Amino acid sequence: MKKVITLLLAVVFATSLFAAGQQGTADAGSKKLAVGIVLPTKDEPRWLQDEARFKDALEAAGYSVEILFSQGDSARERANVEALVAKGIQVLILTPHDGDAAAAAADLAAAAGVKVISYDRLITSTTNVDYYVTFDSFSVGKAFGQYLVDNAKGSGNNLYLYAGGSFDNNAFIFFDGAWSVLQPKIADGTFVIKNSSEAIALQGKKELSREELGKIIGQVTTGWDFNIAKNLAEGHLTTATAADKGEVFICAPNDGTVRAIADAFGADGDVTKYYITGQDAEKASVQYIIDGKQSMTVFKDVRTLTSDAIKAAVTYLEGKTPTATGSYDNKAGMIPAMQTEVITVDAANVKSVLIDSGYYSASDFTGL
Ligand code: BGC
Repeated sequence: MKKVITLLLAVVFATSLFAAGQQGTADAGSKKLAVGIVLPTKDEPRWLQDEARFKDALEAAGYSVEILFSQGDSARERANVEALVAKGIQVLILTPHDGDAAAAAADLAAAAGVKVISYDRLITSTTNVDYYVTFDSFSVGKAFGQYLVDNAKGSGNNLYLYAGGSFDNNAFIFFDGAWSVLQPKIADGTFVIKNSSEAIALQGKKELSREELGKIIGQVTTGWDFNIAKNLAEGHLTTATAADKGEVFICAPNDGTVRAIADAFGADGDVTKYYITGQDAEKASVQYIIDGKQSMTVFKDVRTLTSDAIKAAVTYLEGKTPTATGSYDNKAGMIPAMQTEVITVDAANVKSVLIDSGYYSASDFTGL
């Protein structure tokens, strides 16, 4: 496999050298996709989904590409970008590990004339981001909040809050979306926050500034890491009284961390029932939903996201500018963006949304 990719890249590289040497005489029809993709980590199934869907889409389109992983390390991410730029890519599709830290990688790509597409997570604090392909992350957070609200009865329901990595702009948007739905229901007494003094201090405010969000996230961050999530949840359960347990509502940020948090709550004898949110529709979480161990996930169809990213890349290769449906503030300016909608999945629609649609096959799961 490695050899095939190397060979294809040699062709891509030779084609771009040829094109440069021929000054406009290259045949656009025979052009290979001179694109490099850098994803944040292989350790989370979410990004393996993107890798697989990128490969499928590129194969179908007859293009070749190199996909590299940064393993949650900004220095490695930058080295990956440098390597791809040195190989002559014309478009970079990058999901930053850390949005701010990735600015340097985007800057070096732009300095070499490479178009930079931010993929799913926003590269922040640089103007060298040409385009952003993303899901509607505020709606992801709103879906978390709505699910918990829809399942809560009466008042005084125990609420536990968890967040993603504070290095990821999305973690702020997800939490902000969840807060927009949960806060009125905290203010009216439906929920009582059990694990964050920062959230309690801010519970009277419907709209939070980035700094205020940062305070809460800093206290309940999982860093998108399963082990941190597990330890955090176990710590909360250790300090909680029996009255803080019983039936609980858990706003948790993504499938990987949700499984860790759900396992911790599930193992506590004083927890009689828990509702827990998630996102990504990872296979392991789909099985958790079938088994009744995770309540919901937000399905983000990465086929759409990869296809939008490829379309944008091809548009740049043709010397044109892709159309945008909105824009996102990356702390240095507004970045033109293409946004994709999301779907809430629970036990009631898991089969129709994820299996009958052909996204996953039924044989991947038991007890469907
Ligand atoms: C993505 C999520 C993912 C998380 C952890 C976020 O930026 O939008 O889909 O679960 O990062 O990798």
